[in-house]
Amino acid sequence: MDNISVLFVCLGNICRSPTAHAVFESMVASEGLTERIRVDSAGTGDWHLGHAPDERTAALAAERGYDLSELRARLVDEQDFSQFDYIIAMDNENLSNLRAMCPHGYNGQLSLLLDYSQQSDTSEVPDPYYGGENGFSLVLDLVEEACSGLLAHIRGSRASLATAADTESAL
Ligand code: 4NP
Repeated sequence: MDNISVLFVCLGNICRSPTAHAVFESMVASEGLTERIRVDSAGTGDWHLGHAPDERTAALAAERGYDLSELRARLVDEQDFSQFDYIIAMDNENLSNLRAMCPHGYNGQLSLLLDYSQQSDTSEVPDPYYGGENGFSLVLDLVEEACSGLLAHIRGSRASLATAADTESAL
């Protein structure tokens, strides 16, 4: 059975991508797919390397049952393109930085997280770092909704990961 790997990328790797990492990992675990789907996160900027997630991010995520305490910031690098099937950016700036470092012949998916969202009013997860509390809850709302769409997309793309409902509707 083929496994899948997903890397979430933002700027600092202390707010948005660790949130997506923990939320998606939790969804993967609740569907019994931990052995099949590998999840990680990284940043394009190096200010917080080795740091734990932002306290505001971690506290809000904990209120919704997500544990970010083991995560530490790291930089995305070229090797990630040979390791991850999905490299998923939070905003357009992250995406263009990833495109600039993407090796020719990368045959995974380079995309925005909100490409997997059912809501169409925004395409980016806004950077909450210098804003108020509302920015952090918006990140969590957007990430939860889009991660659910991402998991459905991945399940739909691999027969061995499909749910019984997916299989029925394909018959
Ligand atoms: P993130 O947020 O990209 O969601 O982790 C940021 C964290 C730190 C900084 C910018 C954005 N910073 O400029 O230090």
